[in-house]
Amino acid sequence: MSIRTLLMTVSFILSVLIGLVVSQSGAKATSKSDDKIVIGLSLDTLKEARWQKDRDIFVACAKELGADVLVQAANSDDTTQMQNIEALISRNVDVLVIVPHNGKAMAKAVEKAHDAGIPVIAYDRMITDCDVDVYISFDNVKVGEMQAKFLLKTLSNHGKIIRVYGSKTDNNAFLFKQGQDNVLKPFIEKNMIEVIHEDWAEDWKPENGKKIVNAAISLHGDNFAAVLAANDGTAGGAIQALTEEGLAGKVKVIGQDAELVACQRIIQGTQTMTIYKPLKKLALRAARLAVDMAKRKVIIAKESIPNGKIDVPTIAIDVQVVTKENMEDTIVKDGFHNRKDVYGE
Ligand code: GAL
Repeated sequence: MSIRTLLMTVSFILSVLIGLVVSQSGAKATSKSDDKIVIGLSLDTLKEARWQKDRDIFVACAKELGADVLVQAANSDDTTQMQNIEALISRNVDVLVIVPHNGKAMAKAVEKAHDAGIPVIAYDRMITDCDVDVYISFDNVKVGEMQAKFLLKTLSNHGKIIRVYGSKTDNNAFLFKQGQDNVLKPFIEKNMIEVIHEDWAEDWKPENGKKIVNAAISLHGDNFAAVLAANDGTAGGAIQALTEEGLAGKVKVIGQDAELVACQRIIQGTQTMTIYKPLKKLALRAARLAVDMAKRKVIIAKESIPNGKIDVPTIAIDVQVVTKENMEDTIVKDGFHNRKDVYGE
């Protein structure tokens, strides 16, 4: 039996027993274990607090593991992100980690990386219609379901709501909506929940979240009970619109990301809940994964998610609902934010 056949057989047995073996389809054949590993990290943006946190944890962990990280941020622009990735490829990085601004547009970047023998990790956001090697994220459909379940509980299953979706260029925005729809559909069909206004917040910008709620109020007045926002950034924009109308604190607002400002708003009473996605776990796991992939180690993923072209080996990390009641036991206890910062004491 040739080595190749043997490896394929071992891969197959492993995949049946424990999960999917990440194929690293484009990877250079040689292991670079003797050289210093260089990881290319291409981010959509660093404007939101969460991505700064992701970057800092990722870079620190990779450094501890002896790797260098070249970081690029694209300012929510596809052309810039493509140029960033081309620059990282030309610097001969061992592995690329991409948070795509546009999951579809970055398929081309994956192709280019593979042509250069560089494997690619999709970080938190899927890259669609391509052979991306592995996807690491949270269970984003579950995030949407948890938001909607909490909303129903807090409204006792009845009420008028505004829905603010995320950026249409981000696959996650569709997954959050899908999760919300899974839970809300029967209640909407029975007219127990009425969606008076809904729209997509371009590029996840808080000001677009604000515009959507402003538009809802000028079209339908202030007779609604809640805003279901796709993330804390857009929830923040929504709350600004509510504040202008004297509605902040009266209308329930749901977000996700557990950003510091959102946790502060929860304590102050202008936001009702958020979802804690342990970024530390995600970034540490991704940094270790990137180093292992750079060393061309065998990677096993327990799940897979279709991306329009293949079933992408997937690692998904668990999330938690956060309210005023459990802030201390979740965010503070886990050291995600300081008690002092959250409570302003
Ligand atoms: C999504 C991510 C959210 C949020 C948003 C805006 O992809 O799942 O956590 O940060 O991007 O950047």
